Amino acid sequence: MKRAKITIIGAGNVGATCAHWAAAKELGDLVLVDIVEGMPQGKALDLYEASPIENFDARITGTNGYEETAGSDVLIITSGIARKPGMSRDELLQTNVKIVAEVTAKAAEHSPDAVLIVVSNPLDAMVHTAWKVSGFPTNRVVGQAGVLDMARYCSFIAAEVGCSVEDVSALLMGGHGDDMVPLPRYTCVGGIPVGQLISAGKLEQIVTRTRNGGAEIVGLLKTGSAYYAPAAATIAMAESIIKDKRRVLPCAAHCDKEYGVGGYFVGVPCILGSNGVEKVIEVELDAKERELFAASVKHVKELCELAGKFLPG
Ligand code: APR
Repeated sequence: MKRAKITIIGAGNVGATCAHWAAAKELGDLVLVDIVEGMPQGKALDLYEASPIENFDARITGTNGYEETAGSDVLIITSGIARKPGMSRDELLQTNVKIVAEVTAKAAEHSPDAVLIVVSNPLDAMVHTAWKVSGFPTNRVVGQAGVLDMARYCSFIAAEVGCSVEDVSALLMGGHGDDMVPLPRYTCVGGIPVGQLISAGKLEQIVTRTRNGGAEIVGLLKTGSAYYAPAAATIAMAESIIKDKRRVLPCAAHCDKEYGVGGYFVGVPCILGSNGVEKVIEVELDAKERELFAASVKHVKELCELAGKFLPG
């Protein structure tokens, strides 16, 4: 059987860590692309040299071009810049729209049948940009945000209960941070509703910590943002696609009639399989949850409108 091919664009912290997780899981051959000369080549070679120790078989290529990416099954986009001191949100958006548009156009041209997973921030606007530029059908474009938030939330719950992380299952919707829509009534520990194990007040603290999860890491690292968990979240999505596992994961997926969104990428539970987003699952929301989700969708629309102004051509 032919090995899957995964291209990771942006070989920085998140991109290189994606390669590490993907190689360890033997998901397929990997191509690392970055604008910095020598860096993706060096990281690819270094990772390949680890393969006899960790016993994974994969061709791992580093490049500054796109020819080597041809025929990829999955394209992961992590390229972009982080917000620098004094930089406005709009300036960051403008720069990253240009980067994501440029790399998507090149990558999509060489891998017209791939599923695109977008990781670059601000996520919702970057997924929208990648979708527009690629010309791919909506099911083959998806953004990573919810799996990371869910993982943070589940890890805090497991620590609080004192149980295995394997037994916590949860659902979150909406965007990152303030836009996150926690759904405690869809959270279980070994099948037990979380409310029976953790007080409402403690759960609220966990939700707040999850909302600020990215900032908590930035505050500790000081010179960068999180990458182990974001990369693991991205590779969980890639694995579900490559192996057609059809996992149910919260992703930024295109919703039109779903939840009455009207044609934007927002964080919703999806079935991820070989065609990308196989299905958006519509769960029942109460009034408060609907209100939070509507606020998140409003924010996504505003951001996409702004991103559209910066799109080249
Ligand atoms: N083409 C290819 N690579 C590019 C381009 C480009 N046009 N522009 C920037 N890059 C590369 C940079 O050279 C860098 O190596 O993207 C990489 C980004 O890596 P880091 O700066 O280490 O950032 P990282 O922490 O990996 O985050 C990447 O993921 O989670 C999100 O918010 C995060 O948007 C950010 C992205």
